[in-house]
Amino acid sequence: MKTVVVLAGGDSPEREVSLHSGIGVARALKEAGFVVKVLDPIKPDFPGKLLGVKNVYAVFIALHGGKGEDGTIQGFLETIGLPYTGSGILASALAMDKILSKQLFVSAGLLVPPVCLPRDLPLVVKPVHGGSTLGISIVKKKAGLTAALDLARKYDARILMEKFIPGIEITIGILGNENPRILPAIQIVPASGFYDYQAKYAPGGSKHLIPPELPRKWVNRAGEVVLAAHRLLGCRGLSRSEVIIDQKGNPYLLDVNTIPGFTATSLFPEAAAAAGISFGELTRQLVELARERQ
Ligand SMILES: Nc1ncnc2c1ncn2[C@@H]1O[C@H](COP(=O)(O)OP(=O)(O)O)[C@@H](O)[C@H]1O
Ligand SMILES: [Mg+2]
Repeated sequence: MKTVVVLAGGDSPEREVSLHSGIGVARALKEAGFVVKVLDPIKPDFPGKLLGVKNVYAVFIALHGGKGEDGTIQGFLETIGLPYTGSGILASALAMDKILSKQLFVSAGLLVPPVCLPRDLPLVVKPVHGGSTLGISIVKKKAGLTAALDLARKYDARILMEKFIPGIEITIGILGNENPRILPAIQIVPASGFYDYQAKYAPGGSKHLIPPELPRKWVNRAGEVVLAAHRLLGCRGLSRSEVIIDQKGNPYLLDVNTIPGFTATSLFPEAAAAAGISFGELTRQLVELARERQ
């Protein structure tokens, strides 16, 4: 019997999503025949509990944001020598930093929303260490800037301002280690109006379209951009990126998520399903990809 430790919870603002991801992943792995132990890194003596698990086959990291996704947990697992799902320390840290990753993308010639000054309206205010759209605001009028900055500051001391890019938003997942595959693109359509975040993340707040209502050529190009970004950061196993396609078909890369959601309604499992990979098969593949690197 192979034991997989699922890490879920953590102390980031995305704790709740992570707990849901963990439940789904644990169930799927049990069904796939693994012995599953779920641990929450914020519980007392987490390191001792993890070290106490015998014959760990792999650790499935179902943590989102904060220490679970920024390389910290990954570094701990490297140190104690356990194989884990997803990206390593550096890729995790880079993907989590919206300024450093943007600079890398620009240096490789990938299109990103340019950073801007407060007068360049409309603009988007974001905490540098983002996730789940928390702390992000679209500012259309000068008067809204202060509130947007105050909100972003609740999540991070560093704040980013970038140009608002009008267009159609799609998300594309990448799966694999050496020759990763580009999963089918999903168009995200917010139910109530254009780019309304609250609506987008509330239950039933957004519609998902596979394939996107865009020329196939544009979607394929966005897929190449997302794969290039995945490689540039040095991601492994999986990632899911968001891209805004403007009127002319130009793909603006928004961000790379190294640990996308794994709830029943999450986008990455939905994209995998569209490629014929069930949720259970997906979790099993990620565990094997984690082993492959050892
Ligand atoms: N420059 C932008 N122009 C238009 N919409 C944006 C822009 N930046 C972010 N958004 C919207 O905000 C959402 C969250 O932004 P993102 O940078 O992906 O942060 P997070 O790390 O929270 O996912 C995006 O999915 C998109 O809908
Ligand atoms: Mg995002």
